[in-house]
Amino acid sequence: MKPPITGRTLVAGVAGQPVAHSLSPLIHNAWLAAAGIDGVYVAFAPDADRFEVFVDGLRGGAIRGLNVTIPFKEVALSIADVVSPRAQKAAAANLLTFETDGRVTADNTDGAGLLMAMAIQAPGFDPKAGPVAVLGAGGAARGAVAALLTAGAPQVRIVNRTLAKAEAVAGAVGLGAVACPLDAAGRAFDGVTAVINATSAGLTGQPALDVPLEATPETAVVMDMVYKPLETPLLARARQLGRRTVDGLEMLIRQAAPSFEAFYGATPPADVDVRGMALDALER
Ligand code: ATR
Repeated sequence: MKPPITGRTLVAGVAGQPVAHSLSPLIHNAWLAAAGIDGVYVAFAPDADRFEVFVDGLRGGAIRGLNVTIPFKEVALSIADVVSPRAQKAAAANLLTFETDGRVTADNTDGAGLLMAMAIQAPGFDPKAGPVAVLGAGGAARGAVAALLTAGAPQVRIVNRTLAKAEAVAGAVGLGAVACPLDAAGRAFDGVTAVINATSAGLTGQPALDVPLEATPETAVVMDMVYKPLETPLLARARQLGRRTVDGLEMLIRQAAPSFEAFYGATPPADVDVRGMALDALER
């Protein structure tokens, strides 16, 4: 049975456009129920060009906070009054919290979620141990590049179809990032400790990336931010080659944990199988 909404119910949510497919309500509400917290987590789909007005309506603490997803991560950063260093470096926010004085704080937990997913599914992966290749140069890629450099990766190779975009990201994140064209991915994979797909290629209904994973060292970890399907063509190929793999669902769950703490002031209970629940929802 659902717990009753009371006068003390803490409200948080996710904003995206579209948002109906988001797994965040399922994850957060499962944690809330298991932790016995009087809280609720809902989804909002503001008009694509009215995000700022939407957020202004929440200033002052109407709700505790908001996760932000496509296409609002960049605008979320730009309208915040306080920005965390990691959100600044990622040039995007996936978490807004509302102060009672009207201020909005922006943070980004995607990078932490990525590193946590790597630690869980590829134990022993050390970002400091060697170069990492990131496929893509959009917002998701920039967040991954920023997190990897901050975690001590000696070099991050940004491999993108449009080289100019990779160069722009490399220039923005600073020392340690280099741009490589997608058609020379084989060279970019030389000696890497990990390959991370931060493009939407491989998503159900979209063509997969055709990159020479065999050019990676046998010890390399292959990670895909796409989680629908859970085993993308890239991860299937990596597994065929005997490479360790990390899936995007783990990253989604791990980026949600620090958001939950920011909204409800508690760590998510460990004994809830949110991964199993999310997998069921993905199959439906
Ligand atoms: P997001 O903010 O989610 O990262 P984005 O800004 O639209 O999304 O970026 C998408 C990234 O995926 C881009 O790097 C894009 O490559 P281009 O810069 O060349 O457009 C990459 N991408 C998407 N589909 C791709 C495909 N089929 N093959 C190669 N790269 C692809």
